[in-house]
Amino acid sequence: MTANEIREAFKSFFREQGHLIVPSAPMVVKDDPTLMFTNAGMNQFKDVILGNAEPKSRRQSDSQKCLRVSGKHNDLEEVGHDTYHHTMFEMLGNWSFGDYFKKEAITYAYEFLVGRLGIDPRNLYVTVFEGYAADGLARDDEAAGYWEQYFPQEHIINGNRHDNFWEMGDTGPCGPCSEIHIDIRPDEEKAKVSGASLVNKDHPQIIEIWNLVFMQYERRADGSLVPLPNKVIDTGMGFERLCAVMQGKRSNYDTDVFQPSMRKIG
Ligand code: ALA
Repeated sequence: MTANEIREAFKSFFREQGHLIVPSAPMVVKDDPTLMFTNAGMNQFKDVILGNAEPKSRRQSDSQKCLRVSGKHNDLEEVGHDTYHHTMFEMLGNWSFGDYFKKEAITYAYEFLVGRLGIDPRNLYVTVFEGYAADGLARDDEAAGYWEQYFPQEHIINGNRHDNFWEMGDTGPCGPCSEIHIDIRPDEEKAKVSGASLVNKDHPQIIEIWNLVFMQYERRADGSLVPLPNKVIDTGMGFERLCAVMQGKRSNYDTDVFQPSMRKIG
């Protein structure tokens, strides 16, 4: 599949699940002094998530251009050193604003990757938030329970607050998350070392492709967590990473997202 076909497949899948497809917001954030550049698909929905505005639809989906060069989500030190980080990238996302929650978000993610794109689930690993006592948060057993419908225990991995509790910035909407990682190593390597032991270990062929965030709180300036008026699903999939997986490439830069421009410049 070409990159354009992959993006369209994502949008069609979520359109079929009743989502309104919306355009990417500008990369320079307007009217939010806490953020200079759009660093995630959910930025344009911050007021809706905090309950200060009404959504156009309670189910929305898009491909958002993101820039991660400063602030809480800063990839600048990774770019040029590995095959899967970029300063600017596209994030494929689906949102539920007070509509569906963990069960459906997990079901849709599995159905899209395995059912629609045909990715072998034996190559997928999922993480769940292990809890964090200082914030009074327990392990996300609910998400783990839904993943158990699809994966054996050894493919479901606990993750810490750094990897599995998503926050937009120092303040703002936040919540536990489940990441989906894929193992694209050759079979001989998979037989020697289990993929589970390499998740979140900076291995270039075992990478996160999709983050499902279960937004339940707002982080206030004093560090406290306040429940959101409505629970929100916020997901973000790395479009260029998905293209590399679908096109059988080891590097995002070898996909048709980058190669035509690189060849022309070359
Ligand atoms: N907001 C989540 C992220 O950027 C999906 O990873």
